[in-house]
Amino acid sequence: MGRKFCVGGNWKMNGDKASITELCKILSAGPLDPNTEVVVGCPSLYITFAKPLLPATIGVAAQNCYKVPKGAFTGEISPAMLKDVGADWVILGHSERRAIFKESDELVGEKVEHALAEGLKVIACIGETLEEREAGKTEEVVFRQTGVIAKYVKDWTNVVLAYEPVWAIGTGKTATPQQAQEVHAALRKWLAEKVSKDVSDNLRIQYGGSVTAANCKELASQPDIDGFLVGGASLKPEFVQIVNAKQ
Ligand code: 13P
Repeated sequence: MGRKFCVGGNWKMNGDKASITELCKILSAGPLDPNTEVVVGCPSLYITFAKPLLPATIGVAAQNCYKVPKGAFTGEISPAMLKDVGADWVILGHSERRAIFKESDELVGEKVEHALAEGLKVIACIGETLEEREAGKTEEVVFRQTGVIAKYVKDWTNVVLAYEPVWAIGTGKTATPQQAQEVHAALRKWLAEKVSKDVSDNLRIQYGGSVTAANCKELASQPDIDGFLVGGASLKPEFVQIVNAKQ
């Protein structure tokens, strides 16, 4: 069994009822490649609003959650709550969470563990900054981040890894297909050595960072790129073309 191509849209902190309604109409009209799994990362507040407007084949993700089921954690949302309102997935460890909200590798790992235990599927994000890349530390950074996640994951079935170089996010500077493929292949080798051959063969690794309708096909043709996590372009009609990148 090959790895099913998986495209996620990360809406980030964007959208309102009117624009989400429009976007859901576009996604419902598609047509979307039935061989691609599609997930949209919706602001938590709008999950119950967006879910019934989307085709049942599209998974709905939250963009963050906390690491325990309930309690005195003002402002936080638990995986149990996300499941209760219909979310299927959660995006964790996004570089914006790591950089702006100071989430550590350990906290991301703990969140991944708890979300999986509660039955959510997880898109776990990793990626190096420009400084780290220029210092030749790309592999060191992504292996360290993946290593901490791996410490908290027993069963990888419900995990997708998203490689998102921070310098490519929202900048219009996409990693070249070769740059992305190189890191994805290195991650797969690392997984084979540190986790298992089975996980290395079956874990889907998405690329994220300035993916557009114009560059998605070439990126999708790389052997170790199993999908995308799309920011800006996931708010536009071109997301349909990105979902269909393998066609
Ligand atoms: P852009 O596609 O806007 O670069 O964002 C990528 C991203 O952060 C997806 O999680």
